[in-house]
Amino acid sequence: MSSLLCKIEQIFKYMNILVTGGAGFIGSHTLIELYAAGHTAVVVDNLSNSNPESLRRVAKIIGTDSIPFHELDVRDRGGLNKLMEEQKFDACIHFAGLKAVGESVEKPWEYYENNISGTLTLVDVMRNHGCKNIIFSSSATVYGDPVEIPITEKCPKGQCTNPYGWTKSMLEQVLMDMQKADPEWNVVLLRYFNPVGAHPSGLIGENPNGIPNNLMPYITQVAVGKRPELGVFGNDYDTPDGTGVRDYIHVVDLARGHVCALKAIERKCGLEIFNLGTGHGYSVLDMVNAFIRVNGVKVPYSIKPRRAGDIATCYSNPAKAEKELGWKAQYGIEEMVRDSWNWQKLNPEGF
Ligand code: NAD
Ligand code: WQD
Repeated sequence: MSSLLCKIEQIFKYMNILVTGGAGFIGSHTLIELYAAGHTAVVVDNLSNSNPESLRRVAKIIGTDSIPFHELDVRDRGGLNKLMEEQKFDACIHFAGLKAVGESVEKPWEYYENNISGTLTLVDVMRNHGCKNIIFSSSATVYGDPVEIPITEKCPKGQCTNPYGWTKSMLEQVLMDMQKADPEWNVVLLRYFNPVGAHPSGLIGENPNGIPNNLMPYITQVAVGKRPELGVFGNDYDTPDGTGVRDYIHVVDLARGHVCALKAIERKCGLEIFNLGTGHGYSVLDMVNAFIRVNGVKVPYSIKPRRAGDIATCYSNPAKAEKELGWKAQYGIEEMVRDSWNWQKLNPEGF
């Protein structure tokens, strides 16, 4: 209901949005919701972790010929300048970045350079062209091992356990300081919890390269026969069944959160931070068992040692986003596991 309200309110103000990283998992789903709310979008992506087929599928879902797309790196100042000289953007939703936790430990320089230089270049070009509205993809990882559960936005940030997490934490600080120095900026930091699921059409979804790091794509690859079994990383945590507890959120809900966040930009919010989660914590075995039950498939698994850097429990208090943005997650665990499987089953090799 609240998402519907948000949608209705959005209809009255259409915006032209620059979507960096729009060919990726969350970006592609967000494009659909932006168009559904009446906005227009232009995608900038260097395709380092995505396939342009995702944008063709988005166009199919929306019922349009194509999505405006520039194969461009956000570190490419000249390319961004040219694009922003050609057209005016009301706001940017900045998804572009590298996100693999393990890889960031192996290649810290590459992560700091891509994520930090990319964002610094982007916001500089934006302000030079008078566009000072940005929604930034942050992460629950900035809370480290959280001092309160459920986590509110007031919870202090913590020690990240990997360079990827630090890029998010540092970029939040950069954007906060810029907004403080120049109040014309409107900065919305969205801290995502654990995005899963896929568009219900099964046309787009998560398309990881190589061995998946995250739980849900690992489960779907086991279910489809690409991997023999899932390793459950630890069953001796202080949680109801001993396995790690997380706040999984359907990617369509997450995508709608961005459309609702434009409302904060519209009312010239200055700096705002929102958790985007459901507020429910599910364990690894809850997810595996729901996947098996809802989809009627087998997911062999065995218990493995804990994964370095993991915490026991992490879930949000998403009340602020509901109160201030009219956004609330609509989908539950059944839709999450159903749509994850639907995407994998229809696209066993990804795009
Ligand atoms: P993704 O890898 O599917 O999408 C990111 C996109 O950015 C890719 O299409 C990639 O090609 C592009 N990109 C990377 N570096 C670029 C650059 N320098 N210039 C232009 N394009 C570039 O990832 P996603 O899951 O859709 O995540 C989107 C954003 O949300 C990322 O910033 C990520 O860190 C953040 N986030 C993701 C999760 C998650 O679990 N998926 C959780 C919290 C935050
Ligand atoms: C979830 C649970 C694992 C894989 C990561 C990033 C975070 C954010 C979201 C970007 C944990 C367990 C996992 C497997 C398992 N990304 N697991 N077997 O670690 O909560 O968050 O993605 O910002 O920054 O750290 O998500 O999906 O990796 O793990 O048992 O093969 O599943 O131990 O309890 P995580 P995840």
